[in-house]
Amino acid sequence: MALYALGDTHLSLSARKPMDVFGGAWSGYVDKLRRGLSVLREEDTLVLCGDLSWGMSLEQAREDFAFLASFPGRKLLLKGNHDYWWTTAAKMTRFFEENGFSGFGLLHNNCALYGDIALCGTRGWFYEEDRGGHDEKVFRRELIRLEASLKAAGEREKYCFLHYPPCYEGYRCPEIMELLERYGVTLCCYGHLHGASHRLAVQGKVGPVRYQMVSADYLNFRPEKICD
Ligand SMILES: [Fe+2]
Ligand SMILES: [Fe+2]
Repeated sequence: MALYALGDTHLSLSARKPMDVFGGAWSGYVDKLRRGLSVLREEDTLVLCGDLSWGMSLEQAREDFAFLASFPGRKLLLKGNHDYWWTTAAKMTRFFEENGFSGFGLLHNNCALYGDIALCGTRGWFYEEDRGGHDEKVFRRELIRLEASLKAAGEREKYCFLHYPPCYEGYRCPEIMELLERYGVTLCCYGHLHGASHRLAVQGKVGPVRYQMVSADYLNFRPEKICD
């Protein structure tokens, strides 16, 4: 039994927006993902940390989910800034059932258990997201979502999965970092940073929390093993 994390698969099997055009690490990325995800076993859990598919709707993302569903194990999803297909939990659950895609779960205002460890998560917050200015309302909503997820975990040990990094070189989101610390999160995985931005990543311990970047292009499209 193993717990893995991987962000930013940016699949586009039916949306025709393949990332190969960017070249470099992205060349042949679906084949690299296929090889990377082949480590998964039925008893494993993979947390997918957002930017899963370029599909603009569940319909457009169907092939991408079919691809992910072809690997064994549980897959927990959280929302990235490009996941336009994301809709209500009820609609997503129905879509998975109707298509026979088993093993998908959502991290959204809730937590999931991996043995005794609680897996918490939400999209997180990125100040540069809307360059027109800081959207206080959206920011507060994300904080509420994160706290709901952490509260759901109770007294268990907590790992937290975000799409946006709560800190990187030259940037800190104190409100999110404070929540992680107050609820005793020991590990925080995040994605979103790509290519040249990888060098901005903060990895390792900041205060009591260990931070780890799991963007697919950073990991050469191999899921990061978090623990057995
Ligand atoms: Fe991304
Ligand atoms: Fe992103």
